[in-house]
Amino acid sequence: MAEQNSAVAAPLVLGMMRLAEQKHLHAPAQLADWIERRIQQGLNWFDHADIYGDGRCESLFGAALAQRPELKSQLHLISKADIVKVARDSSPWNVTYYDSSPDYLEVSVNGSLERLGVERLDMFLLHRPDPLLDAEPVARMLERLIQSGKVAQIGVSNFTPEQWRLLQQALGSRLSCNQIELSLRVTTPLFDGTSEAMQRDGLQMLAWSPLAGGRLEEEGLGVMLQEMQDQTGCGPVGLAMAWLRRIPGTPVPVLGSFNEARIADALAGCQFDMRRSDWFALLEMARGQRVP
Ligand SMILES: NC(=O)c1ccc[n+]([C@@H]2O[C@H](COP(=O)([O-])OP(=O)(O)OC[C@H]3O[C@@H](n4cnc5c(N)ncnc54)[C@H](OP(=O)(O)O)[C@@H]3O)[C@@H](O)[C@H]2O)c1
Repeated sequence: MAEQNSAVAAPLVLGMMRLAEQKHLHAPAQLADWIERRIQQGLNWFDHADIYGDGRCESLFGAALAQRPELKSQLHLISKADIVKVARDSSPWNVTYYDSSPDYLEVSVNGSLERLGVERLDMFLLHRPDPLLDAEPVARMLERLIQSGKVAQIGVSNFTPEQWRLLQQALGSRLSCNQIELSLRVTTPLFDGTSEAMQRDGLQMLAWSPLAGGRLEEEGLGVMLQEMQDQTGCGPVGLAMAWLRRIPGTPVPVLGSFNEARIADALAGCQFDMRRSDWFALLEMARGQRVP
């Protein structure tokens, strides 16, 4: 088993995909206050991508940091690139496509640094596996980004084992993580070998949409989470985090909530040691089928 990179040293990463929708945080001072409160809680990793709000999420965050520059040295930033959304497609086809070409990645990283107003990303991820990815030239560009100091660590997102191993083989430095969709509602990576392959290769698992984008507490699972809250004192969001962190390798949830009560519940859940029987009961309810 490879030694795991301790890429993200925090119980949770805060996802910024929905920042542009948070109108109450658009004023730089308000957002700076919000960021500062998160740092005081020990939550100092923030997940961005060039496509979030078509660059607006990074720009809003950058404006807050410009207002309060002392925060920059207290936080860690992740960004991702390689998805070109349909709105940015200049071809006649109106198509979303992936671009992992070295030139595109370099321009994307420079754009994120400029919008965020920082000189370095703590982690840069290839956002989605690109079937046209040419591993050798991509690896050379990623190494140049590290050597130039623009990026501290490289990772991937939504990659299968063969996809990350091809890139890893060409790269001089270790891939730090794979950011994948994982929650009580999306459990496939626990049963198709992805989780085990990440442990074996030493990639930290970052779990995106840990609350299933807001669907976690619907239907029978919501009822069971409430019952478990009565028994344990841990809230539904906290239980969802505890469930994720019980998985070997201790995945780090990338939480998309901006609600302070939900964030506090999530943080408390990261300290909660879930029993095996509770873990399987939640799995069974979420999948709607008995554990055989
Ligand atoms: N790598 C990738 O391909 C990829 C893809 C998608 C996302 N991500 C990353 O993952 C992060 C999290 O994704 P996500 O936002 O989908 O995650 P999430 O944490 O599963 O969902 C958060 C959303 O659900 C809402 N919500 C949670 N509980 C709710 C409830 N009981 N009732 C109503 N609404 C509720 C939250 O609203 P409140 O703010 O009101 O709590 C928020 O809008 C993103 O910000 C991004 O950084 C990565």
